[in-house]
Amino acid sequence: MYHSNTKNNFSTETVKFLNSLVQKGGPEPHEDLAFTKIVNQIKDNEVEPFREVIHDSLNRNTLMGHGLIKPFGYPGDFKVINSIYRQYVNPNPKYSNWDRFFQDQAGAQAVRNRKNCFINYCNKLEAGNKKDIKVLILGCGPATDVNEYLEKNSESRISFVLIDFDQNAIDFAKYQNERFNGSIDYLRINVLRYKPSMYFDLIWSAGLFDYFKNKHFSYIIDKYYKYLNKKGEFIIGNFSTDNPTKRLMEVLSEWYLNHRSKYDLLKLAVDAGINENLIQIDMEELGVNLFLRLKHS
Ligand SMILES: C[S@@+](CC[C@H](N)C(=O)[O-])C[C@H]1O[C@@H](n2cnc3c(N)ncnc32)[C@H](O)[C@@H]1O
Repeated sequence: MYHSNTKNNFSTETVKFLNSLVQKGGPEPHEDLAFTKIVNQIKDNEVEPFREVIHDSLNRNTLMGHGLIKPFGYPGDFKVINSIYRQYVNPNPKYSNWDRFFQDQAGAQAVRNRKNCFINYCNKLEAGNKKDIKVLILGCGPATDVNEYLEKNSESRISFVLIDFDQNAIDFAKYQNERFNGSIDYLRINVLRYKPSMYFDLIWSAGLFDYFKNKHFSYIIDKYYKYLNKKGEFIIGNFSTDNPTKRLMEVLSEWYLNHRSKYDLLKLAVDAGINENLIQIDMEELGVNLFLRLKHS
């Protein structure tokens, strides 16, 4: 249990509440709001003292602790993303409530929803008349989205090219898609450097552009847009400025994203030289993950 040796500004009541959560492996559902309220009010200079109070829960055994430790060197690695898709909760009661809390947040739900959006876009592509369909994924991570699509569509005509700069992500994606690897090519390369050698019907990227500054965002649009087939689309996911999980991600896991509004996304596409008539913005059902859709002229 945390004893206040270091000075912090939290009330005795707050520390007592946080200690009780650490003791029982995280908040119970009726305590989610109270915990979220505390986190949302934490100022930047209070983040470290706050992490000290819940220190015993911020380790590899919880999803939020994994986020903070970053065993692969960056936030949002294939392991945490796959755990979100698979709704993993550590069965050890010392940690399960924390993972349950994490999985119940809008940010995690939006990640699961974007997988469904990907599956819907692929279904629409497949429903067209085209014989061979090519899909490029930038920053594929665990490729759980591809896995689910191919599990549901064993006769799929899509061939996928998956790019990620983390060999661990590629290895994991290959492993979980073993049955489908005849339809998938994997490339370990930085998306800033890759030069496609073919044209695609869909270029998809979710959970990647949120890490790019505006300069790189527009640069990558410009770089890849020209590799779209006629009627092809480049779809880019980005977390919205309305993400209610923003502060929880920052305080618990040092997980910073460049949140963007619909207007920000539109402007970035226009700045990259895309005709406004060819731009559309979609969102998953919570409105937390936006999708910038760029159609081929
Ligand atoms: C948050 S994950 C998203 C994974 C997947 N797209 C999804 O939505 O489930 C982001 C992935 O992008 C990869 N990544 C980040 N920057 C990259 C870059 N510059 N080039 C290639 N891959 C990158 C990371 O290694 C990570 O696997």
